[in-house]
Amino acid sequence: MKILLVGSGGREHALALGLKADTSCTELHVAPGNPGIASLATLYPIAVTDNQAICDLAKKLAVDLVVVGPEVPLVNGVADVLRQAGFAVFGPSKAAAQLEGSKDFAKGVMRDAGVPTARSYTCTEKSEIEKALDTFGAPYVVKDDGLAAGKGVVVTHDRDAALSHALACTRVVIEEYLKGPEISLFGISDGRNILPMQPAQDFKRAFDNDEGPNTGGMGAYSPLPWAPDDIVDETYEKVLAPMIAEMAARGTPFVGLLYAGLALTDDGIRVIEFNARFGDPETQVLIPRLMTPLATLLYKAATDSLDDTVLQWRDDSAVTVVLAAPGYPESPHTGTSISNVPHIENTQIFHAGTSKSGETLLSAGGRVLTVTGVGSDLTEARDRAYRAISQIELEGSFYRSDIALNASVAEKGN
Ligand code: AMP
Ligand code: GLY
Repeated sequence: MKILLVGSGGREHALALGLKADTSCTELHVAPGNPGIASLATLYPIAVTDNQAICDLAKKLAVDLVVVGPEVPLVNGVADVLRQAGFAVFGPSKAAAQLEGSKDFAKGVMRDAGVPTARSYTCTEKSEIEKALDTFGAPYVVKDDGLAAGKGVVVTHDRDAALSHALACTRVVIEEYLKGPEISLFGISDGRNILPMQPAQDFKRAFDNDEGPNTGGMGAYSPLPWAPDDIVDETYEKVLAPMIAEMAARGTPFVGLLYAGLALTDDGIRVIEFNARFGDPETQVLIPRLMTPLATLLYKAATDSLDDTVLQWRDDSAVTVVLAAPGYPESPHTGTSISNVPHIENTQIFHAGTSKSGETLLSAGGRVLTVTGVGSDLTEARDRAYRAISQIELEGSFYRSDIALNASVAEKGN
Protein backbone atom coordinates (compact mmCIF):
# COMPACT_ATOMS: atom_id res chain seq x y z
CA MET A 1 0.00 0.00 0.00
CA LYS A 2 1.32 3.46 -0.96
CA ILE A 3 0.49 6.16 1.57
CA LEU A 4 0.62 9.95 1.50
CA LEU A 5 0.71 11.59 4.93
CA VAL A 6 0.01 15.32 5.19
CA GLY A 7 1.63 17.42 7.94
CA SER A 8 4.96 18.33 9.47
CA GLY A 9 4.84 18.08 13.26
CA GLY A 10 5.69 15.67 16.05
CA ARG A 11 2.31 14.01 15.59
CA GLU A 12 3.09 13.29 11.93
CA HIS A 13 6.55 11.98 12.85
CA ALA A 14 4.89 9.50 15.24
CA LEU A 15 2.28 8.56 12.63
CA ALA A 16 5.01 8.08 10.02
CA LEU A 17 6.83 5.73 12.38
CA GLY A 18 3.65 3.73 12.99
CA LEU A 19 2.70 3.57 9.31
CA LYS A 20 6.20 2.53 8.29
CA ALA A 21 6.28 -0.25 10.90
CA ASP A 22 3.25 -1.89 9.24
CA THR A 23 4.64 -4.19 6.52
CA SER A 24 1.59 -3.52 4.35
CA CYS A 25 2.93 0.04 3.85
CA THR A 26 5.23 -0.36 0.85
CA GLU A 27 5.84 3.36 0.21
CA LEU A 28 5.48 6.32 2.54
CA HIS A 29 5.31 9.86 1.14
CA VAL A 30 4.94 12.92 3.36
CA ALA A 31 3.99 16.51 2.48
CA PRO A 32 5.74 18.57 3.70
CA GLY A 33 7.28 16.53 6.56
CA ASN A 34 10.34 17.55 8.56
CA PRO A 35 13.99 16.47 8.95
CA GLY A 36 13.03 13.69 11.39
CA ILE A 37 10.42 12.25 9.06
CA ALA A 38 12.95 12.39 6.19
CA SER A 39 14.58 9.23 7.53
CA LEU A 40 11.27 7.34 7.13
CA ALA A 41 9.67 8.75 3.99
CA THR A 42 10.08 10.74 0.79
CA LEU A 43 9.22 14.41 1.43
CA TYR A 44 7.49 16.94 -0.83
CA PRO A 45 7.64 20.69 -0.10
CA ILE A 46 3.93 21.40 -0.36
CA ALA A 47 1.94 23.66 1.94
CA VAL A 48 -0.72 21.83 3.98
CA THR A 49 -3.14 24.61 2.99
CA ASP A 50 -2.83 23.88 -0.74
CA ASN A 51 -5.66 21.40 -1.35
CA GLN A 52 -5.06 21.20 -5.07
CA ALA A 53 -1.32 20.58 -4.77
CA ILE A 54 -1.97 17.80 -2.23
CA CYS A 55 -4.53 16.20 -4.53
CA ASP A 56 -2.21 16.50 -7.54
CA LEU A 57 0.58 14.85 -5.56
CA ALA A 58 -1.72 11.99 -4.50
CA LYS A 59 -2.58 11.47 -8.19
CA LYS A 60 1.02 11.62 -9.35
CA LEU A 61 2.08 9.06 -6.73
CA ALA A 62 -1.08 6.97 -7.29
CA VAL A 63 -1.39 6.40 -3.55
CA ASP A 64 -3.86 3.98 -1.98
CA LEU A 65 -4.46 6.05 1.14
CA VAL A 66 -4.09 9.67 2.25
CA VAL A 67 -3.75 10.38 5.99
CA VAL A 68 -4.28 14.02 6.98
CA GLY A 69 -2.56 15.03 10.23
CA PRO A 70 -3.37 18.66 11.16
CA GLU A 71 -6.72 20.42 11.59
CA VAL A 72 -6.18 23.32 9.19
CA PRO A 73 -6.31 21.29 5.94
CA LEU A 74 -9.25 19.27 7.30
CA VAL A 75 -11.24 22.40 8.09
CA ASN A 76 -10.21 23.67 4.62
CA GLY A 77 -11.85 20.62 3.07
CA VAL A 78 -8.81 18.76 1.73
CA ALA A 79 -10.49 15.41 2.47
CA ASP A 80 -13.46 16.35 0.24
CA VAL A 81 -11.17 17.29 -2.67
CA LEU A 82 -9.29 13.99 -2.29
CA ARG A 83 -12.45 11.87 -1.96
CA GLN A 84 -13.96 13.51 -5.03
CA ALA A 85 -10.82 12.46 -6.90
CA GLY A 86 -11.41 8.87 -5.76
CA PHE A 87 -8.88 8.50 -2.93
CA ALA A 88 -9.37 6.65 0.35
CA VAL A 89 -8.82 9.32 3.02
CA PHE A 90 -8.26 9.06 6.75
CA GLY A 91 -9.58 12.42 7.91
CA PRO A 92 -13.03 13.99 8.13
CA SER A 93 -14.79 16.06 5.47
CA LYS A 94 -14.99 19.81 5.84
CA ALA A 95 -18.51 19.45 7.24
CA ALA A 96 -17.47 16.83 9.84
CA ALA A 97 -14.27 18.72 10.76
CA GLN A 98 -16.55 21.48 12.04
CA LEU A 99 -16.51 19.52 15.30
CA GLU A 100 -13.11 21.15 15.74
CA GLY A 101 -13.59 24.17 13.48
CA SER A 102 -16.52 25.62 15.43
CA LYS A 103 -17.08 25.24 19.16
CA ASP A 104 -20.69 26.30 18.70
CA PHE A 105 -21.23 23.60 16.07
CA ALA A 106 -19.70 20.97 18.40
CA LYS A 107 -22.04 22.10 21.21
CA GLY A 108 -25.05 21.71 18.91
CA VAL A 109 -24.08 18.16 17.92
CA MET A 110 -23.44 17.26 21.57
CA ARG A 111 -26.84 18.62 22.52
CA ASP A 112 -28.60 16.60 19.81
CA ALA A 113 -26.58 13.47 20.65
CA GLY A 114 -27.14 13.80 24.40
CA VAL A 115 -23.41 14.01 25.11
CA PRO A 116 -22.45 15.55 28.48
CA THR A 117 -20.57 18.85 28.27
CA ALA A 118 -20.35 22.20 30.06
CA ARG A 119 -23.44 24.41 29.85
CA SER A 120 -22.71 27.29 27.49
CA TYR A 121 -23.90 30.34 25.61
CA THR A 122 -22.75 31.37 22.17
CA CYS A 123 -22.54 35.18 21.94
CA THR A 124 -21.72 37.92 19.47
CA GLU A 125 -22.89 41.05 21.34
CA LYS A 126 -21.31 42.69 24.37
CA SER A 127 -24.55 42.59 26.36
CA GLU A 128 -24.95 38.84 25.75
CA ILE A 129 -21.31 38.26 26.68
CA GLU A 130 -21.64 40.11 29.98
CA LYS A 131 -24.83 38.29 30.82
CA ALA A 132 -23.19 34.92 30.10
CA LEU A 133 -20.10 35.77 32.17
CA ASP A 134 -22.26 36.77 35.12
CA THR A 135 -24.52 33.74 34.81
CA PHE A 136 -21.60 31.33 35.27
CA GLY A 137 -19.33 33.52 37.42
CA ALA A 138 -15.61 32.97 38.01
CA PRO A 139 -13.53 31.18 36.91
CA TYR A 140 -14.62 32.39 33.50
CA VAL A 141 -14.19 30.13 30.47
CA VAL A 142 -14.19 32.05 27.18
CA LYS A 143 -13.64 30.28 23.85
CA ASP A 144 -13.19 31.74 20.41
CA ASP A 145 -15.70 29.88 18.23
CA GLY A 146 -13.21 29.26 15.41
CA LEU A 147 -9.76 27.69 15.04
CA ALA A 148 -7.20 29.77 16.91
CA ALA A 149 -4.03 27.63 16.94
CA GLY A 150 -4.27 26.93 20.66
CA LYS A 151 -4.81 30.59 21.59
CA GLY A 152 -8.60 30.64 21.53
CA VAL A 153 -9.39 29.63 25.09
CA VAL A 154 -9.02 31.86 28.14
CA VAL A 155 -9.76 30.54 31.63
CA THR A 156 -9.46 33.29 34.22
CA HIS A 157 -10.78 34.75 37.46
CA ASP A 158 -10.34 38.24 36.01
CA ARG A 159 -13.66 39.40 34.57
CA ASP A 160 -12.03 42.23 32.59
CA ALA A 161 -9.60 39.79 30.95
CA ALA A 162 -12.49 37.42 30.17
CA LEU A 163 -14.52 40.26 28.68
CA SER A 164 -11.69 41.64 26.57
CA HIS A 165 -10.90 38.18 25.12
CA ALA A 166 -14.59 37.67 24.36
CA LEU A 167 -14.84 41.05 22.63
CA ALA A 168 -11.79 40.25 20.49
CA CYS A 169 -13.60 37.19 19.03
CA THR A 170 -16.18 37.47 16.27
CA ARG A 171 -18.26 34.74 17.88
CA VAL A 172 -17.55 33.37 21.31
CA VAL A 173 -18.65 30.43 23.45
CA ILE A 174 -18.85 31.17 27.17
CA GLU A 175 -19.29 28.17 29.38
CA GLU A 176 -19.33 26.89 32.93
CA TYR A 177 -16.01 25.95 34.51
CA LEU A 178 -15.43 22.19 34.79
CA LYS A 179 -13.47 21.01 37.79
CA GLY A 180 -11.55 17.74 37.67
CA PRO A 181 -8.61 16.02 35.97
CA GLU A 182 -8.48 16.22 32.19
CA ILE A 183 -7.82 13.33 29.87
CA SER A 184 -7.62 12.86 26.12
CA LEU A 185 -9.41 9.89 24.62
CA PHE A 186 -9.27 9.27 20.87
CA GLY A 187 -11.51 7.14 18.71
CA ILE A 188 -10.78 5.88 15.20
CA SER A 189 -13.91 5.94 13.07
CA ASP A 190 -15.01 4.72 9.67
CA GLY A 191 -18.16 6.83 9.91
CA ARG A 192 -20.28 4.04 11.51
CA ASN A 193 -17.99 2.30 13.99
CA ILE A 194 -15.61 4.01 16.40
CA LEU A 195 -12.75 2.20 18.14
CA PRO A 196 -11.65 3.93 21.34
CA MET A 197 -7.91 4.16 21.89
CA GLN A 198 -6.28 4.10 25.33
CA PRO A 199 -6.51 7.33 27.32
CA ALA A 200 -3.60 9.74 27.58
CA GLN A 201 -3.00 12.89 29.57
CA ASP A 202 -1.56 16.06 28.11
CA PHE A 203 0.07 18.94 30.02
CA LYS A 204 -1.17 22.19 28.51
CA ARG A 205 0.56 24.82 30.64
CA ALA A 206 4.09 25.93 29.77
CA PHE A 207 5.74 25.45 33.17
CA ASP A 208 5.96 23.01 36.06
CA ASN A 209 2.99 22.72 38.45
CA ASP A 210 0.66 23.81 35.63
CA GLU A 211 1.92 27.38 35.75
CA GLY A 212 2.35 29.79 32.86
CA PRO A 213 0.39 30.23 29.66
CA ASN A 214 -1.56 27.59 27.74
CA THR A 215 0.43 25.85 25.02
CA GLY A 216 -0.23 23.23 22.35
CA GLY A 217 0.92 20.65 24.94
CA MET A 218 4.22 20.24 26.80
CA GLY A 219 4.18 16.49 27.36
CA ALA A 220 1.93 13.46 27.72
CA TYR A 221 1.76 9.95 29.09
CA SER A 222 -0.25 6.77 28.75
CA PRO A 223 -1.72 4.68 30.31
CA LEU A 224 -3.33 6.50 33.25
CA PRO A 225 -2.98 4.24 36.30
CA TRP A 226 -5.20 6.54 38.40
CA ALA A 227 -8.15 6.69 35.98
CA PRO A 228 -11.32 4.64 36.65
CA ASP A 229 -11.17 1.16 35.08
CA ASP A 230 -14.27 1.78 32.99
CA ILE A 231 -13.18 5.13 31.58
CA VAL A 232 -12.75 3.81 28.03
CA ASP A 233 -16.11 1.99 28.02
CA GLU A 234 -17.88 4.93 29.57
CA THR A 235 -16.41 7.40 27.07
CA TYR A 236 -17.35 5.09 24.22
CA GLU A 237 -20.94 4.81 25.41
CA LYS A 238 -21.57 8.38 26.50
CA VAL A 239 -19.43 10.33 24.05
CA LEU A 240 -17.79 8.62 21.07
CA ALA A 241 -20.57 6.32 19.84
CA PRO A 242 -23.37 8.93 20.14
CA MET A 243 -21.27 11.55 18.33
CA ILE A 244 -20.54 9.19 15.44
CA ALA A 245 -24.21 8.18 15.24
CA GLU A 246 -25.35 11.82 15.27
CA MET A 247 -22.86 12.86 12.56
CA ALA A 248 -23.98 9.94 10.39
CA ALA A 249 -27.66 10.81 10.96
CA ARG A 250 -26.95 14.37 9.80
CA GLY A 251 -25.55 13.01 6.54
CA THR A 252 -22.02 14.15 7.42
CA PRO A 253 -20.33 10.99 8.74
CA PHE A 254 -17.11 11.50 10.65
CA VAL A 255 -14.30 9.42 9.14
CA GLY A 256 -11.00 9.84 10.89
CA LEU A 257 -9.77 10.48 14.40
CA LEU A 258 -12.23 11.96 16.86
CA TYR A 259 -10.33 13.46 19.80
CA ALA A 260 -12.38 13.89 22.95
CA GLY A 261 -10.87 16.19 25.57
CA LEU A 262 -12.67 15.24 28.80
CA ALA A 263 -12.92 16.53 32.34
CA LEU A 264 -13.57 13.88 35.01
CA THR A 265 -15.81 15.92 37.28
CA ASP A 266 -17.58 14.89 40.48
CA ASP A 267 -20.76 14.71 38.40
CA GLY A 268 -19.21 12.39 35.79
CA ILE A 269 -17.38 12.87 32.51
CA ARG A 270 -17.88 16.06 30.56
CA VAL A 271 -16.54 16.96 27.12
CA ILE A 272 -14.23 19.99 27.15
CA GLU A 273 -13.57 19.95 23.42
CA PHE A 274 -13.41 17.84 20.30
CA ASN A 275 -10.62 17.82 17.79
CA ALA A 276 -10.90 16.25 14.37
CA ARG A 277 -7.39 14.77 14.28
CA PHE A 278 -4.75 13.03 16.38
CA GLY A 279 -3.59 15.09 19.36
CA ASP A 280 -0.09 16.40 19.69
CA PRO A 281 1.81 15.28 21.84
CA GLU A 282 -0.57 12.45 22.88
CA THR A 283 0.09 10.65 19.59
CA GLN A 284 3.77 10.39 20.54
CA VAL A 285 2.82 8.15 23.49
CA LEU A 286 -0.08 6.25 21.88
CA ILE A 287 1.60 5.13 18.67
CA PRO A 288 4.56 3.49 20.47
CA ARG A 289 2.05 1.54 22.59
CA LEU A 290 -0.30 0.49 19.77
CA MET A 291 0.29 -3.06 18.51
CA THR A 292 -2.41 -3.08 15.82
CA PRO A 293 -0.71 -2.38 12.45
CA LEU A 294 -1.42 1.31 11.83
CA ALA A 295 -1.51 1.50 8.02
CA THR A 296 -4.04 -1.34 7.78
CA LEU A 297 -6.10 0.20 10.58
CA LEU A 298 -6.30 3.65 9.00
CA TYR A 299 -7.02 2.14 5.58
CA LYS A 300 -9.92 0.18 7.05
CA ALA A 301 -11.27 3.34 8.66
CA ALA A 302 -10.97 5.20 5.36
CA THR A 303 -12.87 2.47 3.50
CA ASP A 304 -15.78 1.88 5.91
CA SER A 305 -14.40 -1.49 7.06
CA LEU A 306 -13.77 -1.35 10.81
CA ASP A 307 -16.55 -3.81 11.76
CA ASP A 308 -14.29 -6.63 12.97
CA THR A 309 -11.24 -4.67 14.09
CA VAL A 310 -10.07 -4.71 17.72
CA LEU A 311 -7.23 -2.51 18.91
CA GLN A 312 -4.35 -4.20 20.70
CA TRP A 313 -1.96 -2.48 23.06
CA ARG A 314 1.40 -3.22 24.61
CA ASP A 315 1.49 -3.39 28.40
CA ASP A 316 4.30 -0.83 28.32
CA SER A 317 3.97 2.74 29.52
CA ALA A 318 5.10 5.76 27.50
CA VAL A 319 6.00 9.30 28.54
CA THR A 320 6.78 12.12 26.13
CA VAL A 321 8.39 15.45 27.02
CA VAL A 322 8.44 18.48 24.70
CA LEU A 323 11.62 20.50 24.21
CA ALA A 324 10.42 24.06 23.60
CA ALA A 325 12.23 27.01 22.04
CA PRO A 326 12.99 30.06 24.23
CA GLY A 327 10.00 32.40 24.25
CA TYR A 328 7.45 29.66 23.53
CA PRO A 329 4.46 30.00 23.36
CA GLU A 330 4.25 33.81 22.93
CA SER A 331 7.20 34.45 20.63
CA PRO A 332 9.45 31.43 20.14
CA HIS A 333 12.98 32.14 19.02
CA THR A 334 13.89 29.87 16.08
CA GLY A 335 16.83 29.25 13.77
CA THR A 336 19.17 28.04 16.54
CA SER A 337 21.34 24.96 16.08
CA ILE A 338 20.45 21.74 17.88
CA SER A 339 23.13 19.24 18.81
CA ASN A 340 23.76 16.11 20.83
CA VAL A 341 20.45 14.44 19.93
CA PRO A 342 20.98 10.99 21.46
CA HIS A 343 20.06 7.56 20.12
CA ILE A 344 19.05 5.52 23.13
CA GLU A 345 17.21 2.21 23.26
CA ASN A 346 13.53 2.45 24.24
CA THR A 347 13.62 6.16 23.51
CA GLN A 348 12.30 7.88 20.43
CA ILE A 349 13.00 11.46 19.40
CA PHE A 350 10.21 13.00 17.36
CA HIS A 351 10.85 16.17 15.35
CA ALA A 352 8.15 18.82 15.76
CA GLY A 353 9.60 22.18 14.71
CA THR A 354 12.98 21.56 13.08
CA SER A 355 14.67 22.37 9.79
CA LYS A 356 18.04 21.57 8.28
CA SER A 357 20.70 23.84 6.89
CA GLY A 358 23.27 21.59 5.26
CA GLU A 359 24.02 19.04 7.94
CA THR A 360 23.02 21.35 10.81
CA LEU A 361 19.71 20.74 12.55
CA LEU A 362 17.94 24.01 13.46
CA SER A 363 14.93 24.91 15.56
CA ALA A 364 12.04 26.03 13.36
CA GLY A 365 9.04 26.20 15.68
CA GLY A 366 7.92 26.67 19.28
CA ARG A 367 7.78 22.99 20.05
CA VAL A 368 11.07 21.72 18.65
CA LEU A 369 11.38 18.04 19.57
CA THR A 370 9.39 15.59 21.66
CA VAL A 371 11.21 12.80 23.42
CA THR A 372 9.29 9.62 24.22
CA GLY A 373 10.54 7.03 26.67
CA VAL A 374 8.93 3.60 26.79
CA GLY A 375 9.25 1.29 29.80
CA SER A 376 7.55 -1.36 31.87
CA ASP A 377 5.95 1.35 34.01
CA LEU A 378 5.65 5.15 33.98
CA THR A 379 8.67 5.58 36.25
CA GLU A 380 10.93 3.72 33.85
CA ALA A 381 9.41 5.45 30.81
CA ARG A 382 9.88 8.85 32.46
CA ASP A 383 13.47 8.16 33.45
CA ARG A 384 14.28 7.23 29.87
CA ALA A 385 12.57 10.27 28.38
CA TYR A 386 14.27 12.66 30.82
CA ARG A 387 17.69 11.03 30.44
CA ALA A 388 17.47 11.57 26.68
CA ILE A 389 16.02 15.10 26.68
CA SER A 390 18.58 16.35 29.20
CA GLN A 391 21.38 15.57 26.73
CA ILE A 392 20.00 17.66 23.87
CA GLU A 393 21.66 21.03 23.36
CA LEU A 394 19.55 23.94 22.14
CA GLU A 395 20.42 27.31 23.64
CA GLY A 396 17.68 28.80 25.81
CA SER A 397 15.36 25.83 25.36
CA PHE A 398 13.25 24.50 28.20
CA TYR A 399 11.06 21.56 29.13
CA ARG A 400 8.75 20.71 32.02
CA SER A 401 10.30 18.47 34.65
CA ASP A 402 7.01 17.13 36.04
CA ILE A 403 5.44 15.29 33.09
CA ALA A 404 3.78 12.11 34.48
CA LEU A 405 5.42 12.72 37.86
CA ASN A 406 2.29 12.46 40.02
CA ALA A 407 1.01 9.50 38.04
CA SER A 408 4.30 7.64 38.41
CA VAL A 409 4.27 8.26 42.17
CA ALA A 410 0.64 7.07 42.37
CA GLU A 411 1.52 3.98 40.34
CA LYS A 412 4.15 3.01 42.94
CA GLY A 413 1.50 3.20 45.62
CA ASN A 414 -0.76 0.68 43.84
P1 AMP B 1 -9.44 23.67 24.66
O1 AMP B 1 -8.67 24.39 23.60
O2 AMP B 1 -10.92 23.69 24.49
O3 AMP B 1 -8.86 22.31 24.95
O4 AMP B 1 -9.15 24.45 26.02
C1 AMP B 1 -7.84 24.62 26.47
C2 AMP B 1 -7.79 24.32 27.94
O5 AMP B 1 -8.64 25.21 28.64
C3 AMP B 1 -8.30 22.93 28.29
O6 AMP B 1 -7.36 21.94 28.17
C4 AMP B 1 -8.69 23.15 29.73
O7 AMP B 1 -7.57 23.07 30.58
C5 AMP B 1 -9.21 24.56 29.75
N1 AMP B 1 -10.68 24.54 29.64
C6 AMP B 1 -11.43 24.56 28.50
N2 AMP B 1 -12.74 24.52 28.80
C7 AMP B 1 -12.84 24.45 30.14
C8 AMP B 1 -13.93 24.38 31.06
N3 AMP B 1 -15.19 24.41 30.66
N4 AMP B 1 -13.63 24.30 32.37
C9 AMP B 1 -12.36 24.29 32.81
N5 AMP B 1 -11.29 24.37 32.00
C10 AMP B 1 -11.52 24.44 30.68
N1 GLY C 1 -2.78 17.99 22.78
C1 GLY C 1 -3.70 18.99 22.41
C2 GLY C 1 -4.06 19.03 21.00
O1 GLY C 1 -3.58 18.25 20.20
O2 GLY C 1 -4.87 19.86 20.65
